[in-house]
Amino acid sequence: MDSLNQDDCVVNEVSAKAESAFLIIFGASGNLTARKLFPAVYNLFDAGRLEDKFCITGVARSSFTCEGFKERIRENLADNQETRNFQESTWEKFARHINYVQADGRNPGDFVKLAEFVKKKAEELGMPENVLLYLATPPTEYEEIILNLEKTGFTGMIKGWSRIVVEKPFGRDLKSAEKLNRILSGVFSEDQVYRIDHYLGKETVQNIMVFRFGNGIFEPVWNRRYIDHIQILIAESAGVENRGKYYEQAGALRDMVQNHMLQLLALTAMEPPVAFESEAIRDETVKVVKSIKPIQCNQVSDYVVSGQYDSGMVNGKEVSGYRNEAFVTPDSNTETYTALKVFIDNWRWAGVPFYLRTGKRLPSRATEIAIYFKQAPLLLFRKTDCNRIESNVLVLRIQPDEGIFMRFGAKVPGPSFRIGHVDMDFSYKKSFGEAGLTAYERLLYDFMLGDSSLFARRDGIDAMWKFIDPITEGWKNCAPPVFPNYKAGTWGPEAAEEFIGKDGRSWRIP
Ligand code: BG6
Repeated sequence: MDSLNQDDCVVNEVSAKAESAFLIIFGASGNLTARKLFPAVYNLFDAGRLEDKFCITGVARSSFTCEGFKERIRENLADNQETRNFQESTWEKFARHINYVQADGRNPGDFVKLAEFVKKKAEELGMPENVLLYLATPPTEYEEIILNLEKTGFTGMIKGWSRIVVEKPFGRDLKSAEKLNRILSGVFSEDQVYRIDHYLGKETVQNIMVFRFGNGIFEPVWNRRYIDHIQILIAESAGVENRGKYYEQAGALRDMVQNHMLQLLALTAMEPPVAFESEAIRDETVKVVKSIKPIQCNQVSDYVVSGQYDSGMVNGKEVSGYRNEAFVTPDSNTETYTALKVFIDNWRWAGVPFYLRTGKRLPSRATEIAIYFKQAPLLLFRKTDCNRIESNVLVLRIQPDEGIFMRFGAKVPGPSFRIGHVDMDFSYKKSFGEAGLTAYERLLYDFMLGDSSLFARRDGIDAMWKFIDPITEGWKNCAPPVFPNYKAGTWGPEAAEEFIGKDGRSWRIP
């Protein structure tokens, strides 16, 4: 399964150049900017996807000179696996587009300074005053920045169009997300707001729709009649790294389930959209989230398991427990692992459990969606040596080692009648070569082009929080968890094995 037919049909070819604009990054001295955003913009520049006249303006409180800021970015680009093709000669050309403005998002006066900078630069370069604002600051600063944009009339001072990206997490519950949306709507219309979830920028995540709706053979069996259950896993071998301050406020449920996992669930379970267009796709994914059967506060212990990692060995290295990580309180009860059983209350999925599982410090990094089909009846094989048939499983490997495989039974050669299990495997790398755009590159590019298909819509975010809030409420009413409850380098707490085991199923090990 490794050949690519060059007659392939092209949907949404990405070749247009993004319009001239100022990409203004708030939080320019932070990790996200260095590790993800600049590599993404550099790649777009290198691929010729940006107009000659564009400006990337870093904004932060730190007192960098423009040269100092550029040097910091250069170091991070050169040594970053998200950067595709770093070359000094390209960097020199790219660096000419970078500026730095020292400003504090809490200070309205600094927004006037920023607007003046844009106007002056636009005149100097003969380019329009279009602005692409990117909030890459800690989430606690979003509200104040947006309120200051409103107070100072920033977008009114600018003559061109404006759009804004809000990084996840979008709020920490329904109430705060609604408030953030209200504040945003005081400055921007919905079509100017881009709520980012970088999972939607991954090629393999976009392929879920192509796989389901572009092939005649899967959709007819994609329902409760043929599917026994579905497992969605996002496993990370990394720990919380230096993000303890943020993570203590989030935990796995808010950090991974509320956004990435529910997006994967929505794409796996959605009805076919009427077109491959922003609103049509988002209409369908939002419908799925709205159809999830709520887990009530008093049902949490039946439907959710949580865990926190202790010290242990990961990839042959000794690592410390969560409570000993930087910026984490020594008696923290923040969950670094969570597993849930979810039902979607609609005609296609009623009764089919979706098991969602995510955790840090698990044995390996793997994101996948495993579709377990119903078992074939054994009656036919009763008088043979075969007393057990594994059910067919179809696995969409999102990362790493991107691909798809299907497991099915085949007769083991020989005189007796035995069934073995074999895999039919498709690998992205073998068929298509190196990956295309990185997730951030794709999303930044869409943001520049004004295409919001791969961004979350307001009602989608609300629906996700409506599902998550009763779980966090339920946790508050339960006895405090006994953490830590799994060793780093293992597949999570024992309770999680019992959780799925009592349904007569087991977790798939990727
Ligand atoms: C981020 C989370 O959204 O996704 C992190 O905040 C997590 O905690 C990361 O590590 C995982 O992303 P990826 O693309 O490496 O799977």
